[in-house]
Amino acid sequence: MNEKKAFETVRHSLKPRRFEHTERVVEQATKLAEKYGGDFKKIRMAAILHDYAKYRPTEEMRQKVMKNSTLPMRLLDYGDELLHSFVGAVYVKEELDIKDEVILSAIRYHTTGRAGMTLEEKIVFLADYIEPGRTFPEAAEARKLAEDDLDLACLASLKNTIIHLSNKSLAIYPDTFEAYNDFVNK
Ligand SMILES: [Fe+2]
Ligand SMILES: [Fe+2]
Repeated sequence: MNEKKAFETVRHSLKPRRFEHTERVVEQATKLAEKYGGDFKKIRMAAILHDYAKYRPTEEMRQKVMKNSTLPMRLLDYGDELLHSFVGAVYVKEELDIKDEVILSAIRYHTTGRAGMTLEEKIVFLADYIEPGRTFPEAAEARKLAEDDLDLACLASLKNTIIHLSNKSLAIYPDTFEAYNDFVNK
């Protein structure tokens, strides 16, 4: 699948506001890839498709978790916000025939992060957090850090995500803690 086709696909599966967010994530990811490297084409493709499943019905995605042995069952115990990233990677593989694991894992971990993130995963994760449409102060802080240090910017994003979720008494997916610990030990 080429970029043009990928953009067309998400334009039809996303609401206009989410599609505009996607365009900004692609632009942001492109800038990060120019600065920090990684597989440029794959980073852009993952950024284009990262929210592919955003508007799938929650129940459909929960069913997918139950039926697909590659998806962790514990996803069902956390907020539905996580589903679109993990299940989205499966839909992208099955429906769009993208089998490249670099692309798929950058989609899968764009919300939670994980320990041992690849460069491509870090860039898509961070681009989603700092794209210019994110106007909260924590995004500005991470955006500033991203100018000099990709890992520090990822750490700040994870830290703020953990604080944000715990302030709202929401469950935190273990991968997010593991990603935080991984970066903090670097
Ligand atoms: Fe997302
Ligand atoms: Fe997103």
